[in-house]
Amino acid sequence: MENPNKQGELVVLTPKKNNTRKLFIESYGCAMNFSDSEIVASILYKEGFNTTTKLEDADLVLVNTCSIRDKAEQTIRKRLEKYNAVKKINTKMKVGVLGCMAERLKTKFLEEEKIVDLVVGPDAYKDLPNLIAEVDNGKNAVNVVLSKDETYADIAPVRLNTNGVTALVSITRGCDNMCTFCVVPFTRGRERSRDPQSIIEEINTLANKGYKEITLLGQNVDSYLWYGGGLKKEFINASEIQKATAINFSKLLELCAKAQPKMRIRFSTSNPQDMSLEVIKTMAKHANICKHIHLPVQSGSNRILKEMNRQHTREEYIALIKNIKNTLPNCSISQDIITGFPTETEADHNDTKNLMESIKYSFGYMYAYSERPGTLAQRKLKDDIPLATKKRRLAEIVQIQQEHSLYRTKQFVGKTVEVLIEKTSKKSPDQWSGRSENNVVVVFPKQHYNIGDFVNVVTTSCTSATLIGNAIGYSSNN
Ligand code: SAH
Ligand code: F3S
Repeated sequence: MENPNKQGELVVLTPKKNNTRKLFIESYGCAMNFSDSEIVASILYKEGFNTTTKLEDADLVLVNTCSIRDKAEQTIRKRLEKYNAVKKINTKMKVGVLGCMAERLKTKFLEEEKIVDLVVGPDAYKDLPNLIAEVDNGKNAVNVVLSKDETYADIAPVRLNTNGVTALVSITRGCDNMCTFCVVPFTRGRERSRDPQSIIEEINTLANKGYKEITLLGQNVDSYLWYGGGLKKEFINASEIQKATAINFSKLLELCAKAQPKMRIRFSTSNPQDMSLEVIKTMAKHANICKHIHLPVQSGSNRILKEMNRQHTREEYIALIKNIKNTLPNCSISQDIITGFPTETEADHNDTKNLMESIKYSFGYMYAYSERPGTLAQRKLKDDIPLATKKRRLAEIVQIQQEHSLYRTKQFVGKTVEVLIEKTSKKSPDQWSGRSENNVVVVFPKQHYNIGDFVNVVTTSCTSATLIGNAIGYSSNN
């Protein structure tokens, strides 16, 4: 899942006067974790906690963790060392771990990391007030129970670290796909969809507060299905009325687009096996649905795709891209790819490279395979590709992607693109930074424009990931 946030980025809320305790909360990993932290902060805000950005001042430190690769877990372990050092001075400080690593390690966390007082899995955040009470009584507290129906639909997330313009809205939780390399089905549990009514209400509230763009979040948004709640498997037993009124992702997308026609709608992540033509047609029908699809492929080799338990072939994936391009010629497509999955040969790797050549993705997130405990790949396959080979293959595909990103970004040079201004450019205080609907970063002189404005920018040059240009006026979307 793409993540617009910086890892570990800190969050502060407008302090509530009567709140006396201080919460330091930081998030690592995917956008879902950042979105979950907003739910957690919302729950604790009501429990008397204000947020702080100073670790030294915190009564409670919460870290929302990621298990996707070993490196992500090592980053968290390092953070815990830092908390440990601070706790030596601020001895009353309590430390809790949330998210995927909490779910994966459970009580083992308490044994392995003495600093940890509290371990809470992704479906147990509503229990935080009770768990914190236990910790206040000098005990350790753990809740890692996964749920079949928790979607936090009834909790209005507080917006953390917000630019006031873009927001994340979660629509599904968990994943049923069981890709053999992936720890997510174990740490986030079964897939469930959130009540569309609550999604639309959240979007309307955001629009009223001045937000201009939302990203619908799910591990696999295309398998969104609402027929009254619960696991998808139960849909088979649902009543005929429930089936007739069921809402799939395409319908949800349409509801969102129509509810706020001036708001930009993005979504992440699409799984090739579940992306339907109906979704592509809905994207074409609504100007406010951004023309960008994050479509992880993982490998270009049919044999490896099968070993990964991805439910599509290379040919089906290419056919899907053709369908997308036929209906949405200007839609940008991005990827996730893993190099060095067990048994991957040079021929498999070459298949990945030539798939990339034939598609020329706009951008991508690429990783060396990291064996995760408990996954099917770990149990059934030997992690047999030497690290040096994984890294060399990774460097090769990163290089190819770099060239393709430049090729794709160049296609916009000399054109006018609509940009939603999000923030000051990191490189220059005199320049704005925003994104085009195709998800390309665009920077340009600030002039009289402001954050949250939709502006038309004529682009004059580019790097592989950024368009550079000049604003020529507000766009009609303002
Ligand atoms: N469906 C999810 C996938 C989450 S994981 C989504 O919302 O995007 C994000 C990416 O991490 C995956 O697409 C995959 O490319 C990579 N990944 C997952 N497990 C991995 C592992 N064990 N080693 C290396 N990369 C992995
Ligand atoms: Fe992981 Fe595959 Fe689901 S990558 S999150 S098991 S779609």
